[in-house]
Amino acid sequence: MNNQTAVKLGRRLRRLDTMLEQHYSIIWDCCCDHGLLGMSLLERKLAEKVVFVDILSPQMALLEQDLQGRFPRDKFNWQVICQDVKDLQVPQVAPQLFVIAGVGGNKTIQFIESLCAALPNLPFDLLICSVHGNYAVRKALAEHGFGLKREQIVLENNRFYEAIYVSQNSTQPIIATGLTMWDRVNPDHHRYWQKTLAHYRKKAAADPKAFEAIVADYEALLITG
Ligand SMILES: C[S@@+](CC[C@H](N)C(=O)[O-])C[C@H]1O[C@@H](n2cnc3c(N)ncnc32)[C@H](O)[C@@H]1O
Repeated sequence: MNNQTAVKLGRRLRRLDTMLEQHYSIIWDCCCDHGLLGMSLLERKLAEKVVFVDILSPQMALLEQDLQGRFPRDKFNWQVICQDVKDLQVPQVAPQLFVIAGVGGNKTIQFIESLCAALPNLPFDLLICSVHGNYAVRKALAEHGFGLKREQIVLENNRFYEAIYVSQNSTQPIIATGLTMWDRVNPDHHRYWQKTLAHYRKKAAADPKAFEAIVADYEALLITG
């Protein structure tokens, strides 16, 4: 970096950053906004190139300026693309990682589908941290041939997130409720489990056919705290 302080991440983004365990040809920070996570990955030289993508053009102009000041192009390989993630043109290179963090479950699933359509014959990795809808996101990941690498529950500003690192090269099954991320004696995890169950029980009361099986899946976890 160019006479600047190191990239400072909040708890959620820091956890995503430290979950990554390999070097990539390209890392895509999709829906990057301020681009902090991508900057940290650039700083750690975790990829030959980091591509920042977001649909908001004023924000992307600011990010471009920021990157020019902090990560000179003669030392760092980065690109800023102002576009809908669904329309991305993706080069056929491997290994690639797409980070999708900070958007809702439905959008996350749309991005998973469009990326799979863009790379039909080349396995790739995803690091996902949706703001909600993790059960459906995990189902979509399994349907698209992803296996688990790592998963963690993250608590930031009294909100719970699931950080889900997956790969089409992994054969470890993705469980819709999450499995290895739960610490059965952690009171915060107990709180998250109770909150999630309450959410799906309410939905099941209105639409039993759609949600009773999800409630049963979460009940079977039995996180005691
Ligand atoms: C809350 S920010 C997330 C920032 C960062 N990824 C994080 O997790 O802290 C959500 C960002 O998603 C962007 N976004 C929403 N829909 C998008 C789309 N279809 N394509 C690209 N960016 C999108 C928004 O412009 C916004 O900057």
